Amino acid sequence: VRGGPVIAVDGPAAAGKGTLARRLAEALGLPYLDTGLLYRAVGRLALDAGRDPADPAQDIAQTLSPEALRRPDLRAPEVAVAASKVAAQPLVRAALVETQRRFARERGAVLDGRDIGTVIFPDADFKLFITASPATRALRRFLQMGGDATAPDARQKLADMEETLRARDAADAGRETAPLCIADDACVIETDTLDAAAVLAEALRLARARLAGQPAG
Ligand code: CDP
Ligand code: CDP
Repeated sequence: VRGGPVIAVDGPAAAGKGTLARRLAEALGLPYLDTGLLYRAVGRLALDAGRDPADPAQDIAQTLSPEALRRPDLRAPEVAVAASKVAAQPLVRAALVETQRRFARERGAVLDGRDIGTVIFPDADFKLFITASPATRALRRFLQMGGDATAPDARQKLADMEETLRARDAADAGRETAPLCIADDACVIETDTLDAAAVLAEALRLARARLAGQPAG
């Protein structure tokens, strides 16, 4: 028995999952967990140790400390790639399942990631799949990282970013364990033409309708 509702937010890279999940949690008074940080921290520590992130990394996942999740350098592009490589390892994923489930136990939670609605909480109270075209997502990540869309090389940088995101999405969707995919009972929000406030409004409308009649968190 959980102390509050569990809301799963999944989707491809830079779709706006984290931005939405954080605001949704705030609006509903629920704790928020960015599960990508778990894989990013494992990837970061593998790189620090001079290891290939494709090599077995379960020892790192099994001993992950809260401090490792608070490192300021987890958003770097090379860490995202390393995260995706360690995330393809079944033993790494297995080591992180309990942490994610425990997080929601007391008060419920909003969690964002790739497999929250499919593997971590298949019985979540409400599931969202947040997506946008690769071009939109590339622009979002480019701007988020301080890129200047009016610079002479912006076109090339956006094309490179799009290719990088596509490659990571393909790896995440193509892996055998907990691949990125839409849960059968998820609500899909296409966000190409929606800003973050509009996505939040739509998600809140759907969440409130779905959670109505359930005990509040
Ligand atoms: O967590 P995920 O990688 O899916 O994306 P994010 O880091 O939450 O969002 C990527 C960027 O897109 C952030 O700078 C957001 O402000 C921006 N954005 C958004 O989240 N939602 C929109 N509908 C439009 C832009
Ligand atoms: O913010 P962005 O969408 O770019 O990435 P993230 O959510 O921080 O996730 C980084 C990587 O961790 C993803 O590309 C996945 O390979 C992995 N991940 C995962 O496998 N399962 C999750 N629940 C969350 C992240």
